[in-house]
Amino acid sequence: MENHHIFSEYGKKSSEPSPVSQMMSKFAKDFRPGVDINLGVGYVNEDTISYDEFAEIVSVLVKKDTRPPHLLNYGGPEGSGQLIESIKGFYKELRDNKWIGDIPDFNNREIIIGVSGATSILTGIANILKPGIVITAEPIYYIYTSTLERYGFGIAPIPENKEGPDIDTLQRTLEIYLKQGTHISFCYFVTVNNPTCTVISNRRRKEIVECVQDLSKKYNVYIPIIFDLAYEWLIHYPEMEKPISPSVYDKGETVYEIGTLSKVFAPSLRIGFIIGPQGSNLLKALVQWNSDVGFSAPLITQEVSAELIRKYGKKQFESVNDGYKEKGTLFKDAIIRQIGTYLESITGGNAGFYIYLTFIGVETITNSSLFKLLSRNSGIREWDYGVEERKPRVVYLPGIYCVSPQGSMAEKGKYQMRVSYGYEDKNKLLQSVNIIKEALLEIDKKCFD
Ligand SMILES: Cc1ncc(COP(=O)(O)O)c(C=O)c1O
Repeated sequence: MENHHIFSEYGKKSSEPSPVSQMMSKFAKDFRPGVDINLGVGYVNEDTISYDEFAEIVSVLVKKDTRPPHLLNYGGPEGSGQLIESIKGFYKELRDNKWIGDIPDFNNREIIIGVSGATSILTGIANILKPGIVITAEPIYYIYTSTLERYGFGIAPIPENKEGPDIDTLQRTLEIYLKQGTHISFCYFVTVNNPTCTVISNRRRKEIVECVQDLSKKYNVYIPIIFDLAYEWLIHYPEMEKPISPSVYDKGETVYEIGTLSKVFAPSLRIGFIIGPQGSNLLKALVQWNSDVGFSAPLITQEVSAELIRKYGKKQFESVNDGYKEKGTLFKDAIIRQIGTYLESITGGNAGFYIYLTFIGVETITNSSLFKLLSRNSGIREWDYGVEERKPRVVYLPGIYCVSPQGSMAEKGKYQMRVSYGYEDKNKLLQSVNIIKEALLEIDKKCFD
């Protein structure tokens, strides 16, 4: 039934699943556990999740005589005081152990807890800020840019280099928009980028803040700079530069940081937080957004998370990073060894849990030979699986979803892919590289036929 007239513009755009969710849900529907290999999703490794510790804390806290007040009642829209203090304490612990560099100054910055992870805060920002241009690094975090586009924002992608978004392009792009009077809604940068896992260097963090603030001053505008810290606590290599909070460079009260417990503790806690200048209107509007969308994150989850961080945070941080370091190194080495000659570039493997590949002349889009071979849907009898054959399929995220169709990387994206070492175990990761290699050899063979 044609009922388009009932929808808002956002509703109209949301009533059709995006191509990437269609592809992923198709794969999820007939995924064969133990056979197929999922390199496509941002799921964390089950082994990193502290089920026992969670159960222990719940069983202690939920008892009537030990529980914090109102544990099973409504919470306040700013988030639980215990959790906020716990996050601050964790920051200090990480800094004191030299796992991270300078941290936000909590004397003049405050923390608000989101209703449902970092995602609900990001969506809140899309609701409270006036639509205009959002400046972000490319390759892009496609889930959020899709949300933004449905809310009527335009995306201005800034290509990334080794240290993060290219600063000259950022400067030039901002200047063009500001000169012509186009409204810039905000800047959005992921400190360990999804999909590339490029870590924005401390030098680049400072340059970004200074560049945006200098131009904001020149053109007399306020441009919030949002840093998404989703993988900031997953920089596995101790010898790498310790990440400094971008708020340290904030001279104009425009820097906001969004963090999450999803990647180090557990995604299903749905605990995300934003740190910003104390009493800012943006934070006040986000508190109202929390209230409007569901009052608060479940109080019980907030209190359990507070205790989880306090009691097991350090141990969890270490073991999660050790685990991903091992898998990241193994996976990246296997990729370089087995299929390195097919690659123009490779990023990631030392932070977050994605590796981003650029192939030389091999397309990765959904109707490419590589995609069809890896989904065992190629029409080549020996490749595709029949009823008895349990040939594993390998799913990845085609790069085309991670680039802006209007941006300078649109063409290159057709030859790129994001593979995740988050979810699968070491054997499956190695197996997947073998399968990708076989598929590439099959493509080579066809070229010579
Ligand atoms: C860049 C980025 N931001 C935010 C999120 C979502 O975080 P949360 O689980 O807290 O909603 C993800 C998850 O994959 C992510 O990659």
